[in-house]
Amino acid sequence: MANRQGSKKTRIVRINPLQPEKKLIDEAAAVLREGGTVAFPTETVYGLGANALDPAAVRGIFAAKGRPADNPLIAHLASRKTLGELVGEVPPPVEERLNLLIDRFWPGPLTLILPRKPVVPDVVTGGLETVAVRMPDHPVALALIAAAGVPVAAPSANTSGRPSPTTADHVAADLDGKVDMIIDGGPTGVGVESTVLDLTTQVPTLLRPGGVTYEELKALLGGVDLDQGLLSQGLLSQGLLSRAHNDHKDEGHFRPRSPGMKYTHYAPRARVILVEGPDVEAIARAVAGVAQKLVGAGQRVGIMATYESEAFYRRRFAGERAGIAPEPVIRSAGTRQDSGTIAATLFKLLREFDTSGVDVIIAEGIPATGLGFAVMNRLRKAASEIVEATSLS
Ligand code: TXA
Ligand code: MG
Repeated sequence: MANRQGSKKTRIVRINPLQPEKKLIDEAAAVLREGGTVAFPTETVYGLGANALDPAAVRGIFAAKGRPADNPLIAHLASRKTLGELVGEVPPPVEERLNLLIDRFWPGPLTLILPRKPVVPDVVTGGLETVAVRMPDHPVALALIAAAGVPVAAPSANTSGRPSPTTADHVAADLDGKVDMIIDGGPTGVGVESTVLDLTTQVPTLLRPGGVTYEELKALLGGVDLDQGLLSQGLLSQGLLSRAHNDHKDEGHFRPRSPGMKYTHYAPRARVILVEGPDVEAIARAVAGVAQKLVGAGQRVGIMATYESEAFYRRRFAGERAGIAPEPVIRSAGTRQDSGTIAATLFKLLREFDTSGVDVIIAEGIPATGLGFAVMNRLRKAASEIVEATSLS
């Protein structure tokens, strides 16, 4: 790919995701130890890594992404033993929760917010007294971190504000010429980022829904609060989440606790309209109506459908082919029977709609349960407009 804005020569290396080649991992680890930036696959999305203990190296991440300096990074670990290098003492109840969570979910898509030790640079924590830590469940990520011998600070490897990358091609599209190395380890599995859970609050607080579900956390821990930013997204009206308690909330305190949450996120270039509703029939009717209007106004429209609704749109818009208006680009994100399939393709689809040149993407909402909570959180952040579909009955 042409080196347009960047000044670096980015080396792109393919590594076997099941059995990472030791020689290649060692080369990538050397880049990290020398203060460079390396994009690598994790089980969630690709990350852009640098030595977490080297402030100059970490600044390289912010520069490459165009990321605001007050948005802290996750320190990635290859073993549980290294946790104590970064994390300070915690009271016994927190220690107990920490052990439960690590036993159950590490390595895996769960990031924990804990008190930091002074060794963690301010540039990693955004000046906070806490640090975010996680152990990714991916052979390449684990081998790379272990070989580097240092914790690896890594945000998602996208230009700030864009959808997170789930392939090395996505990373290259955003960061070629801006980072030292991109490891291509194939597509990632989960497709949405890790769950971020704050363990420093009296009741653990969910800051970002992700690969480990809210339901799983509640089942293991008992009480889990939702951050104000999630509560104000209004996803609570949907079934399971209505039982969320927030007894300990500090009234009138709307400052997002996870600093990243106040920025526009996950946005493709096209405008996103999200359609929510009681059932797939009502949603699909509303999506088709909105699409019809925009097509009529000469807009290039993309429809993010689901397996259950795709055929309906194809029939509905088959007639456009004969007419003058361009037909909508229709893509299924996965099946409503398994929100994990939708999580896995969400970011890829958003990028593909951009590549196909649509002006507007109309996305179907899904129930905010299981991985659907993470999907709806990302879609709501990407959307400039949310339409509420009502059923006919
Ligand atoms: O799955 C993932 O988590 C991916 C892969 C690469 O590991 N990483 C990722 O990083 O999504 P990033 O930087 O895009 O998102 C990290 C989130 C941000 O919302 C940030 O504000 C929050 O974690 N965060 C980091 N440190 C924090 C802290 N000390 N307190 C509260 N929130 C924090
Ligand atoms: Mg990110």
